[in-house]
Amino acid sequence: MKNIIDNTVEFVKQKLEGAEAGHDWFHIERVWKLSKKIAEDEECNHDVVELSALLHDIADPKFHNGDETLALKVSREFLESQDTPEDVIEQVLFVIKNISFKNRSEVPQNLPIELKIVQDADRIDAIGAIGIGRTFNFGGFKNNLMYHPDIKPQLNMSKDEYKKSNGTTINHFYEKLLLLKDLMNTEKGKKIAEERHDFMLLFLDQFYKEWNVD
Ligand code: ADP
Ligand code: NI
Repeated sequence: MKNIIDNTVEFVKQKLEGAEAGHDWFHIERVWKLSKKIAEDEECNHDVVELSALLHDIADPKFHNGDETLALKVSREFLESQDTPEDVIEQVLFVIKNISFKNRSEVPQNLPIELKIVQDADRIDAIGAIGIGRTFNFGGFKNNLMYHPDIKPQLNMSKDEYKKSNGTTINHFYEKLLLLKDLMNTEKGKKIAEERHDFMLLFLDQFYKEWNVD
């Protein structure tokens, strides 16, 4: 399996060349490392964890006209080319299909531990200083406003509204980032998330202080 993992690293690096900075190879590398760290404390299939972490954003629907099946197709094709056992392929595809925050209401109950681990790792990379950086980068990429005092956050958006949302970057903190801490699946995930959550609160305080020049 070591070989397959090494080849997957090369495949993903090459596929994500030129990607938006919040969803590039370095995001994948951080999620891969965080996943391995969380997996140390859990009884799980480590190969499934590593391969899922590496492939989870291989064809993000946001950047592919909303196509939610492309990532599954690309991943299956690649894993088959590596002679990966079919049961591992199926477990990896399940993680990739169900990891996303915007699909959270549709995800089946009793999630496999491998999904819980990679989902925590992906969510951890969405918060804290890195999360703030990624979010402003994405907002800039979409040409959104950083902040507007009259545009209020939209909680409880449907999946479609969430995807179409052209709200401000600061609103994204209330619509997603600050909710992640309480959605963590694993003990280690919760612990790491708490520190990063507190840092975002500090950041927001300072942001408003500097915005409201008096
Ligand atoms: P997922 O890929 O888990 O479904 P999203 O697509 O909502 O999650 O977001 C992934 C990351 O992209 C977020 O953590 C954030 O950094 C950035 N992002 C997504 N939507 C927005 C937005 N409307 N404004 C700013 N950043 C966003
Ligand atoms: Ni991701």
